[in-house]
This record gives sequence, C-alpha cells and structure tokens, in this order.
Amino acid sequence: MPERFLFGTSSKGERIDALRIFDSKGNSAVIIEYGATVQSLVINSKEGPVDTVLGYDSVQGYENGTCYYGTTVGRVANRISNALICIDGEEYSLTRNENGNCHHGGTFGMHDVKWDGSFDGETAVFRCFSPDGEEGFPGNMEAEVRYRLDNGALHMVFRAVVDKPCPVNLTNHCYFNLAGEGTILDHDMRVGADRYTETGAGNIPTGRLIDVEGTPFDFRAMKPIGKDIDCDDPQLIAARGYDHNYCLNGNGFREVAALECRDNGLGMRIITDMPGVQVYSGNFITEEKGKNGTLYGRNSGIALETQFYPDSPNRPEFMDITLRPGEVFSSETVYAFYSL
Ligand code: BGC
Repeated sequence: MPERFLFGTSSKGERIDALRIFDSKGNSAVIIEYGATVQSLVINSKEGPVDTVLGYDSVQGYENGTCYYGTTVGRVANRISNALICIDGEEYSLTRNENGNCHHGGTFGMHDVKWDGSFDGETAVFRCFSPDGEEGFPGNMEAEVRYRLDNGALHMVFRAVVDKPCPVNLTNHCYFNLAGEGTILDHDMRVGADRYTETGAGNIPTGRLIDVEGTPFDFRAMKPIGKDIDCDDPQLIAARGYDHNYCLNGNGFREVAALECRDNGLGMRIITDMPGVQVYSGNFITEEKGKNGTLYGRNSGIALETQFYPDSPNRPEFMDITLRPGEVFSSETVYAFYSL
C-alpha cells in the first residue's frame, strides 16, 4: 500500500511530505513534495535492491543543492537564450540565472517550490500553481505530475494549463546510477538519435543539427558512456563531457534510450513521447555527500531529461512549444527497469 510520511520542513516553514509508491515486485519510489522530486527509486537487481537515483536525505539538501537531483523542472527545462521570449509580438524578460540565460525555469522554478501531494489509488499525484509573472513567465500555470510504479517501471505523466500563452517544457531531472555508487562511466548506454543539437557559448543551441555518425556522440548501439567521453571533440571539451540534446528518432510514445550496468545486471529503458533528450553525464557534480552519506562527484550519475529542444522559444526552426489557454500540455515518460 502507498504511504505518506513527513520528509522535513522547508526554510519557509512549509511541511514537506514524502509519498512512497510500490509495485507488486517490491520495487519502490519515494517522491517528495519539494519540487515533486523523485527522492529514491529502489529497484531489485540480481545482486539485491539498489537505489538507482541520486538525491539528498533532507529538504535542506534540495534547497541548497545546485544539481536538480530528481526534481521536476519547468516551466521551461534547459536554456532560453538571453532569458528573453517573444510571444505574439510581446517580449517577456525571464530570470537570468546562468550566463545571462534562463536555465531550468529560473532561480525558483518548479524544482524549488512545494507541490501538493496526494494519492489517487496507487498513483502519487503532485500539483502546483505558478502565478502570473513567476520568474518572468506570462500567465498563471497549473501543473500536475502523476507517478505510478508498475512492474519495475516508473510512469510519469506531466500536465499543465495556462491562462496566457506561455512556453512549457516540463521534465524530470533524475540522475541515474544503476550500481547505486561509483561513476556511470562504465554503464552502457543506447540513445536512438541520428543527430544532436550543436551548442555554442553558454551551452545554447546554434541551430545546427549534427550527425552522430562517426562521432563520439553516436550511441545508436550500446556503448560504455566513458568510452569516447574524453575524445578531442570541441563539443565534448566545452561541456566537459556529454551535456547535449539528442534529436530522438521517430515520434509518438516510443522507446528512445537505455542504460545498462553489467556489474549487477540492471538495465533501464526510457520510453517517452518527447522529441528530445538531454544527455548530461554529471560533468559538473562537485564533491558532496548525498543520501545515506554516499559521496557524489563528477560523473556519479547520468541525467536523461526528456524534453523539447533547448531554446525552442527563440528558434523558429525548432518546434513551437507555446502552450495557449484552452490547450493542455501533456507528456509521459517511463523509466522501465529490467534484468540483463
Ligand atoms: C544541464 C547541465 C546542468 C545540469 C544541472 C542539465 O540539465 O544541461 O548543463 O549542469 O542540468 O544544472
């Protein structure tokens, strides 16, 4: 049976609860109201249970953290150049929280606010209201994320509505480590993408899509993440590793990527309806203590953030991600675990 318990208190004095969900195989996930964050995702491997995601033991850890471990990111995940958007001829200035750009929804984006958690049967539901002008975004937004664990798969359904046109790109920012410790450099990864978005200064897309063929970015067949990560490729050098949006092949709800850990035989597929995934190999994780005293550092986890392409609001050649009143943003991503 799902359970709810006190996780802690935010610095604003808000009570932050945790909701734990289970599947019939004894796998479990804990989602906390702060940022509707996946705080733990414990999966049974052949070698025993593994907490497969990075995170903290306390609300303060999440408040002070800079890595977005497991959080829900929005209104617009990834970067908006110059923190400016123009909708129907009207310009809006957003929070410049990274190199003059708007990153992950601004300083107090959806990752950094309390969501209200409740259960709908076995599903944990989190709702949050973002007022008009928050971090510069136009209109009120109501958002919801639903988490369900079924047969080793965490299903996440994102939903949002607005009362003024506003770009929306909600994602989850779990960092995975299928071994539960160490680095992810010897995990194998597959990403079903023929191209990725080239980035320039500030990790902002240049608009060019680069073919992965013959480059260190080719993960169309399973390959250890660390195999080519130190190659002499300007894109890799600038980002200190992978931190790029892959243009996922196909469309609709489909399998797009997989991770595997040979040591304990645990694998995970990602299924999504989104067109892109940010592959971020934890290049800037600085040394710190995470959950249960586990030491984190560079490459301790890999984030696979399903998303619309970065800077879409300023790139007419990318998809228009403006959500308009009367429309519903709705997207589903699944982290489905299996044994090798
Ligand atoms: C970004 C990285 C960033 C990380 C933590 C990722 O989504 O692409 O550049 O360092 O989030 O903020």
